Amino acid sequence: MKKVLVIGGGGREHAIVDALSRSPQVDKIYAIPGNAGIAAQATCVKIGECDFPAIIDFVKSEGIDLTVVGPEVPLSKGIADEFAKEGLRIFGPSKAAARIEASKDFAKSIMYKYGVPTAAYRTFENYDEALEYVKKGSFPVVLKYDGLAAGKGVVIPETLSEAEETLKDMLLDDKFGKGKVVVEDFLTGPEFSFMCFVDGENVYPMVIAQDHKRAYEGDKGPNTGGMGAYSPVPIIPNADVQYALENIMKPVAAGMVAEGCPFKGVLYGGLMKTPAGVKVIEFNCRFGDPETEVVLPRLRSDIYSIFSAIADGQPLGEIEWNPAPVMGFVMASKGYPGSYEKGAVIEGLPDALSDEDVTVYHMGTKEEDGVLKTSGGRVMMVLSKGVSLQNAHDKALEAVEKIHCDNLFYRRDIGWRVL
Ligand code: AMP
Ligand code: GLY
Repeated sequence: MKKVLVIGGGGREHAIVDALSRSPQVDKIYAIPGNAGIAAQATCVKIGECDFPAIIDFVKSEGIDLTVVGPEVPLSKGIADEFAKEGLRIFGPSKAAARIEASKDFAKSIMYKYGVPTAAYRTFENYDEALEYVKKGSFPVVLKYDGLAAGKGVVIPETLSEAEETLKDMLLDDKFGKGKVVVEDFLTGPEFSFMCFVDGENVYPMVIAQDHKRAYEGDKGPNTGGMGAYSPVPIIPNADVQYALENIMKPVAAGMVAEGCPFKGVLYGGLMKTPAGVKVIEFNCRFGDPETEVVLPRLRSDIYSIFSAIADGQPLGEIEWNPAPVMGFVMASKGYPGSYEKGAVIEGLPDALSDEDVTVYHMGTKEEDGVLKTSGGRVMMVLSKGVSLQNAHDKALEAVEKIHCDNLFYRRDIGWRVL
């Protein structure tokens, strides 16, 4: 029986821990740092996600068989490289491969070099040159800070003065850090998230999902990490998914091998079905959040076998999926994605969980003296499987309404494109 460590403490990691707990091969799960929900299925350990020496000491002293990394920051800082030096097994890409997410300029250059469809772009370090280029183009225009920015690095100005302001923030005032800016053409169409398990040139697709990035109903308000998700996505035909597998995910995986930085882990394609075909909006070097929370509950295969095969460079058989749809609603602290208060009491969880199709993944919670409280921007995701997406929607919403907390809000219109 195996011991597994999961790095991270959000809803994505709760879904990973939950999937691991269904594996007949796994008998002990640890999480660094985990959260109040994860604590029911795993031993939560207070070590920093980027304190690699301490994590490695812990893995050795506990005899952990495999470590699975959730968030992008430890990956882009090289956790997989440090594990490899010690001969420890890890599921997640190297620092060099994680650049597919950590540098938008790197991602764009790979896409261009290997003929992968994406928006036309130019990269700038100089404010005046960037402004000159934007002045010549049309609006809206897409401005992306080159480095990691916790989902806040993309701004889509409608006017020149707004674009000027954003370029100033990014290139003159270094508000996101020191770095370049990618200026991209604005594309339109429905977006979907296509995650694949990747080991070098071998690409194994997961079922697709759709996220809801805007904070408020009707897709209004600021961009967030994601306010809800569902899987499958019937408005995206299977032919588009096959196209994306053959013309996007596989060429990028092969390109990374050719560049000397083979990818191992989950390659996340943020894709858009534009009038001119499916194109890439972004890549992530890890499982998406909240997509993972609706995709992994549909996984029938043993996730430990998948993680192991990828980590060890072994071939993977067919991955099996449950056809039943899953939809989930994110409950977030009032004020998110801006500033918000923590510590509000959450009640009604047992009642929400009385339907056996309903699951709650914790995203930002803590327990104090036996009382469950909010401790983050996104606090929990309430999801349900159903006989249809409408049925999953209705059951998840019914469960959300049973949860009481003064300081939480949610969107009731998750899945509006397909219901
Ligand atoms: P990203 O963090 O790169 O996924 O960007 C955040 C959001 O900005 C995406 O989910 C899209 O809705 C939007 N976006 C990014 N790039 C483009 C683009 N080239 N055209 C239109 N929308 C975009
Ligand atoms: N849901 C988008 C992401 O994980 O970045």
